[in-house]
Amino acid sequence: MPPWKDELTWSELEAVTQFTQFLYFSPDKAYQYISSAPKTTPTGQKLFITRCSMCHGRYGEGNGRLAKVIRNPPPYNLTKSTANRDYLQQIITRGGAAMNRSKHMPPWGKELTETEINAIIQYLLILRTN
Ligand code: HEC
Repeated sequence: MPPWKDELTWSELEAVTQFTQFLYFSPDKAYQYISSAPKTTPTGQKLFITRCSMCHGRYGEGNGRLAKVIRNPPPYNLTKSTANRDYLQQIITRGGAAMNRSKHMPPWGKELTETEINAIIQYLLILRTN
């Protein structure tokens, strides 16, 4: 095992560490991380933090500031979501009410472009721990 300290920068080391952790928990996720993260995550993550984290929490765990007042149901813990891409696309675009879910989940179709919503979906899939 060669020492990599002089070859890699700290952020490269961090990315490798992240990849190794993903690999340990779920190889699929690790490959998704290398194939999609560099292209789409920065946008998806930025949009998620500015538009969604106040309810869903920084890491999607359903513990944003507004979770204190939105109950029954609370903002979904997105790390445990099993919804497929199509469903995610629908509920994010049309909102909770249109999908017979909570009206507190806002519709984003007028606010965000399809490309932006796709970037968020990519990010949501990476946040999952199940
Ligand atoms: C004002 C609070 C609020 C904001 C802001 C918000 N959500 Fe939600 N969201 C909710 C609530 C409440 C639910 C739960 C709906 C239910 O279970 O009926 C939900 C549910 C969801 C679900 C369904 C998950 C599943 O597996 O069924 C997704 C996906 C989702 N939100 C994504 C987003 C995204 C992406 C954004 C930002 C673009 C966002 N939400 C912004 C409140 C919010």
